[in-house]
Amino acid sequence: MNGSSAALTPKRLEGKVAVITGGAGAIGASTARLFVRHGAKVVVADVQDKLGPSLCEELGAKGAVSYVHCDVTRDEDVKNAVDFAVAKYGKLDIMYNNAGITGKVYPTVLDADGEDFKRVLDINVCGAFLGAKHAARVMIPAKRGVILFTASIASTCAGESPHAYTTSKHAVVGLMKNLCVELGQYGIRVNAISPCGLATPLLGNAVGLEKSMLEEVLSASAVLKGPVPETEDVAEAALYLSGDEAKFVSGLNLVVDGGYTTTNPTFKILLERLMS
Ligand SMILES: NC(=O)c1ccc[n+]([C@@H]2O[C@H](COP(=O)([O-])OP(=O)(O)OC[C@H]3O[C@@H](n4cnc5c(N)ncnc54)[C@H](O)[C@@H]3O)[C@@H](O)[C@H]2O)c1
Repeated sequence: MNGSSAALTPKRLEGKVAVITGGAGAIGASTARLFVRHGAKVVVADVQDKLGPSLCEELGAKGAVSYVHCDVTRDEDVKNAVDFAVAKYGKLDIMYNNAGITGKVYPTVLDADGEDFKRVLDINVCGAFLGAKHAARVMIPAKRGVILFTASIASTCAGESPHAYTTSKHAVVGLMKNLCVELGQYGIRVNAISPCGLATPLLGNAVGLEKSMLEEVLSASAVLKGPVPETEDVAEAALYLSGDEAKFVSGLNLVVDGGYTTTNPTFKILLERLMS
């Protein structure tokens, strides 16, 4: 984008303050970048103590972005991240609970390990719960706010991810809906975003594929041909749900998958294979 068109783009988060957990990762960093471009102050909350500060340096923008070490499984760390945002920027408008892991990939349920299952739920579900809880603590008195979660298409579509991951993402959507009902009375909107597979290290490491090969598989399996799904598509969904354009949107699991989960092509593929 050149300077003049950037100047013409309306800033949709001017004056807003956001905390993004997992903010140093692929989706988190894309979202931090977009939020800052739209005038927000952002606290990147993560456990990546090298990548987090270097992202803040890259985004610079006159102190608009800060890093705070935050392990989302630790109540004290999450409390501290929220309090840090309020102390530094005066308030909290957007809490984006995005930190997540896939956990190990096992061939069968018999191979799967209970400790791994607990770890995935601890980060993906309990971590998201703690983020929502501490955000609500400061948003309820303010009588406004936006709480977002990154779920996944694994929240609606089973069999493609490890059991722990699928369980965790279903749970995140359940949590989002429950919070939507409880917090609506305070003017707080609660939504989730469910991206399809993206060619990020999270998925690449889980399935053991390099970026280019992963992109090939993702594009071959896509319903919507043409655009390749990117972290920026998730960031754009987060921008929409965080901004006043979505002022009456709450309780939504916004699926960003180019239509992937609307169909099951297995029958058609097998039929075509038989006919050829
Ligand atoms: N990449 C995909 O294909 C994909 C698809 C659907 C959903 N998602 C979800 O999107 C979210 C972000 O994933 P990503 O692709 O950016 O992966 P990523 O690995 O690049 O980012 C995840 C971030 O979470 C952080 N994190 C992990 N454990 C943490 C903890 N205990 N406390 C704080 N931070 C912690 C990591 O340090 C990392 O920065 C995750 O919730 C993931 O499940 C990803």
